Amino acid sequence: MADTTEHADPRLEALNERLAANSLSGHWQRREGPRPLQPYLWPWSAIHSCLEESGEVVVLGGAGDAAARRTVQLINPALGAQKATTRTFQVSIQLVKPGESAECHRHTFNAMRFVVQSKGMYTTAEGEQMIMEPGDLLIQPGWAWHDHTNLTDEAAIWLDLLDHPLTRYLDSMASEVYAEGATQPITKPDGYSRRRFGTVRPNSDAVENKAVAFCYKWKETLPVLEALAAGEESNNPFDGVLLEYTNPLTGGPTLPTIGASVQMLRPGETTRLHRHTSCAVYHAVRGQGVTFLGKARDKELPWGEKDCFFVPPWHWHQHRNLSSREPAILFSITDRPTVQTLGFFREEKY
Ligand SMILES: [Fe+2]
Repeated sequence: MADTTEHADPRLEALNERLAANSLSGHWQRREGPRPLQPYLWPWSAIHSCLEESGEVVVLGGAGDAAARRTVQLINPALGAQKATTRTFQVSIQLVKPGESAECHRHTFNAMRFVVQSKGMYTTAEGEQMIMEPGDLLIQPGWAWHDHTNLTDEAAIWLDLLDHPLTRYLDSMASEVYAEGATQPITKPDGYSRRRFGTVRPNSDAVENKAVAFCYKWKETLPVLEALAAGEESNNPFDGVLLEYTNPLTGGPTLPTIGASVQMLRPGETTRLHRHTSCAVYHAVRGQGVTFLGKARDKELPWGEKDCFFVPPWHWHQHRNLSSREPAILFSITDRPTVQTLGFFREEKY
């Protein structure tokens, strides 16, 4: 192999050294790029057994606890040092046992909770009690006070969906613990936000925030999904029957940085390949299928009920429902609202 060093220009070498000594760099100097994100699947069996064990060994408010939360976090193999699921999202699975409270706090990053198991525990957000039932989606925008209390006799489990890595990247992290107790007082009547932010509502001049705490009920979401699937009306060739959780204030993305969706793949359905510059984290609510990656479908993520998986940005992907009899349902979040707002969104269809 040719020795390139003998051809190195001593003046260029000296310049490079002088640049480094002054904390400068030349465009001609190579830099180490970030590790590419990998498609990945986290089986529910592994998540759940670790979460159950954490219920035995991690005491809320004790050693090993952080911010009075007991969660198992999904980590992309490329982001081990950052402890992040994607460059924009942290997805964690939280466990609150009977009689426990995850204490009240607020932070600049946005949060969503997708409920996997709960007999009726509740979150209090901005003074409003919201009962958590399986399949419900709760949103708590940045700087909304929130705490979670389980007064039932069954452990509650949900997905925490946070734009924490994005906030950290922007160095815009701030947080506060509620000073007046472990939980905040309930100051609003039941159903307050659903009435306040319904399609018939008080004059919008009175709305101060761009995002509000809200709860989307599964018992209302599922019938819409089933009715549209039966009617062929909203079939999307790339995603099956796809519903978006719209922001109750704007009708736009669920939160300014996180879009949440739920989709149904009809029995035997295979979607078409596409790719886009936003990423998505999926959670299989029901059924079993496989998500193929790559134009040649050279990687497969076979998923079953409650599994979580990640499709990185700009990766070709398509979904297949492996059952010929039962529909499959996927919940997902995407950073498309951020990518689109910044003008970085591109999509290619195959
Ligand atoms: Fe929080």
